Amino acid sequence: MTALCDAFRALFGAPEKVFCAAGRVNLIGEHVDYCGGKVLPAALSLNCRVAVRRNGTNTLRLAATDLAGVVTVDLARTESYRGLPWGNYQAGVAHEMVRAGYNLVGCDLLYDCTVPFGAGLSSSAAIEVATAYALAMMGGNPVDKVALALLSKRAENEYCGVNCGIMDQFAAANGVRGHAMLLDCATLECEQVPLDLRDCVLVLADSGKRHSLAAGGYNERRAETEAALALLKRKLPVERLAQVTPAELETQKSLLPPVLYRRARHVVTECARVERSVSALKRGDLAAFGQLLNASHTSLKEDYEVTGPELDALAEAAWQREECLGARMTGAGFGGCTVNLVKKDKVSAFIEAVGRIYTEKTGRKAAFYVAETADGISGEDIL
Ligand code: GLA
Repeated sequence: MTALCDAFRALFGAPEKVFCAAGRVNLIGEHVDYCGGKVLPAALSLNCRVAVRRNGTNTLRLAATDLAGVVTVDLARTESYRGLPWGNYQAGVAHEMVRAGYNLVGCDLLYDCTVPFGAGLSSSAAIEVATAYALAMMGGNPVDKVALALLSKRAENEYCGVNCGIMDQFAAANGVRGHAMLLDCATLECEQVPLDLRDCVLVLADSGKRHSLAAGGYNERRAETEAALALLKRKLPVERLAQVTPAELETQKSLLPPVLYRRARHVVTECARVERSVSALKRGDLAAFGQLLNASHTSLKEDYEVTGPELDALAEAAWQREECLGARMTGAGFGGCTVNLVKKDKVSAFIEAVGRIYTEKTGRKAAFYVAETADGISGEDIL
């Protein structure tokens, strides 16, 4: 907090407030949010903080602790910043807020993000939701966390060109420390599930391989699930792919070309794994939960094809370890992190072994974090 405020003073003068939105780890329910399925993310203590003051103009002045320079966004022309290499997420959020009728006032904003970028832990949602929360509060608007999440998602879809689902923005806004959110992405009904991991912790292993969601695979997968749904609808009375059961998919297999069948099989089996995971967590059966994590990774690897050699190497290294009950990639894939359920007293041995095997296999160095859950958004006055 002090370092961020000092940096703000050096750049803009005295800050008024600091707002914060969380990164997230998705425990299970991957690539099902945009198919109307249920997901189980938890908000993390890795977060995006933004120090703010009103600047008395009609512009936003945006800066980040890890970047040089200041980007200016005119609030009267929010539609014209789509091409910014940095600042387009914030401009997109401002644009959606203007369209939705929020009162926005000119502000100086300095961002400090501890969520690693492109690592599958939702740095972009944390930036969007922190921006939405800060601008809503500074403009004196009532704050509805679900509305902030929805407008942040629209900014990412329509302004930044990533056709993501609602999971990340929802988690960044609505997370509750010590809980995972069982979010029904079709209705936005959300149950906060206490995350009691007993003698285990969640270890995040960052492959160091970065992904860009705007480029390539992500939007393609989404289009494939839509194509699969359109074909299945010829025979099944469903609105969303997540409504199809694994058994129904098998009976309708002949409707789908092989690739679309495998994409659909991932979605419907993953939805079933989410239900089973929540029951396992509620009855304290961590071994069963761990097996479901492993099965999720295999499905994302073989049927959905979004893992890649780095994430596979990390998961496979973890699967060999006795102290690890389960491991899978988390987030969009194509790089980023795995989430590992590991015995608390063996975390160092786990990190040492998985790090070593990963480097041997890929020549890359992994980074590890013991995940701590946190509240989604918060704001503090600077005294
Ligand atoms: C990204 C997207 C989410 C979700 C995940 C995959 O994080 O932003 O909406 O689709 O990938 O589960």
